[in-house]
Amino acid sequence: MKASTLGASGTVRFDFNGTTFVCNTPCGLTMTVMRRAFEDLVAEAMAAPVEGWDFSWLNGRATEERPSWGYQRLMSQRLAAASAALDIHTGGGEVLAGVDKFPPTMAATESWPPNAALATRRLHPRGVVVVAAPDAPPLPFADEAFDLVVSRHPIAVWWDEIARLLRPGGTYLAQHPGPATVSELVEHVIGPQPQLWAQFELSAQGAQARAAGLQIVDMRMERLTAEFFDIGAVVYFLRKLIWTVPDFTAEPYYGRLRHLHERIEAEGRFVTHPTRVLVEARKPDRRS
Ligand SMILES: C[S@@+](CC[C@H](N)C(=O)[O-])C[C@H]1O[C@@H](n2cnc3c(N)ncnc32)[C@H](O)[C@@H]1O
Repeated sequence: MKASTLGASGTVRFDFNGTTFVCNTPCGLTMTVMRRAFEDLVAEAMAAPVEGWDFSWLNGRATEERPSWGYQRLMSQRLAAASAALDIHTGGGEVLAGVDKFPPTMAATESWPPNAALATRRLHPRGVVVVAAPDAPPLPFADEAFDLVVSRHPIAVWWDEIARLLRPGGTYLAQHPGPATVSELVEHVIGPQPQLWAQFELSAQGAQARAAGLQIVDMRMERLTAEFFDIGAVVYFLRKLIWTVPDFTAEPYYGRLRHLHERIEAEGRFVTHPTRVLVEARKPDRRS
């Protein structure tokens, strides 16, 4: 343990197990946890499990605003009225499990084995068939198998496959990542990404949907706020959302992460802006 006295007030600062404490003397009764060492925060975040889609590890360490449209509520309403539905990229099934009433046929796909196992445990008791499918089309379902396809935060959107799976008159309802999502964070770590941002522009997403033969019923974007209060929270987030900085692991980015750590220490937080797009697309009826 290292200790040092700072200032005339008799404040004592010491490091213990990577955490810096400050004791306000002369009474010596007030002990405040000031900050934890960069290495300790990064090591803890690198060791944390990241399976599933539960973000409670970040409680008190980060915040993320949600879009005003309430995707889970919209999805629940649509599922209650559907006869056969599919959730693509269900993750650990957390969002789908929040639905009150499933249609008579409800399937979900998941490509990452740890999440497929979690989703199976969570959703099979509710009568949802979870299919561990590769992370590329085609999915193992017949043409026109579903009247509703849903997806929240898919890593890639397979428009042609969605069009193939929908019955004429069927609906695709989804919440996609938007243009320049968390760009401040991504660009801090890996620099400018203009081509990546362009792929998520609404005009690009709409053009891809139309090229697959779907009609856009609704497409809108919200720019939200996310805050990180320590570098461990940033590292955990980047490990969990692996596509944010492809193949992320902390070591190659130590310099950039340390810079961000110092910024958070100085400013109290790091603010970035997730963008989300609500998409409703329709497969035309045969006669229209
Ligand atoms: C952003 S997740 C969304 C999951 C779910 N739809 C939701 O909104 O909670 C999209 C996909 O990324 C996958 N994924 C998450 N972490 C992964 C990892 N470390 N490696 C590979 N795929 C991962 C998920 O399993 C899921 O299929």
